[in-house]
Amino acid sequence: MSSGNSIEIKKVGLEYLDQAADLEKQYMLPPLTFPFSKEELEPIFNDRMMWGLVIDNKLIGKVGYIKDKNGGFELDGMVVAPDYRGRNWGSKLISQSLKEVLMLNPSKIYLYVNPKNSPAVVLYLKQGFAVDDWIPNKFNDGENRLKMSLLKTRI
Ligand SMILES: CC(C)(COP(=O)(O)OP(=O)(O)OC[C@H]1O[C@@H](n2cnc3c(N)ncnc32)[C@H](O)[C@@H]1OP(=O)(O)O)[C@@H](O)C(=O)NCCC(=O)NCCS
Repeated sequence: MSSGNSIEIKKVGLEYLDQAADLEKQYMLPPLTFPFSKEELEPIFNDRMMWGLVIDNKLIGKVGYIKDKNGGFELDGMVVAPDYRGRNWGSKLISQSLKEVLMLNPSKIYLYVNPKNSPAVVLYLKQGFAVDDWIPNKFNDGENRLKMSLLKTRI
């Protein structure tokens, strides 16, 4: 585990795709953003942006934004490796990436989260997201999701 001094938050690209997929496989519940091979993913990566928590070229956290056809962005694939959780890295990753995405003048920034995932729900609330909707079985996994959107005052 690191002291945290040399962790960088930065926009990352395809070079981190394998590590991003590994983080998801290890620490996230399905449906995963990156369930495919690098070859399958490369063509669709253009529609996505990803920010990473990076230490010595190792990805220890990430968040993605996918552009939709209405000029909005869906935040997805948020994860911080367990050793680094509870130390504000998730909050910093979201606030820094949001700042950059907001500069693109999005019509909306939204996400879907399992209401049972309290660390994630609390994190999003603290970052200025509010609950829009309750969506039963959104991803056909028998679980419900909250749709949360960044408050209008922040857009
Ligand atoms: C959700 C996740 C990204 C949070 O990352 P993190 O680096 O621990 O987040 P932070 O340290 O910035 O915590 C932010 C806030 O979340 C809340 N929080 C964090 N861990 C929590 C926990 N175990 N229980 C309840 N609330 C928690 C706290 O309110 C915290 O703010 P505070 O410390 O000022 O009170 C991390 O737990 C994770 O990777 N989970 C697995 C993947 C996942 O579920 N992703 C979300 C998919 S929608």
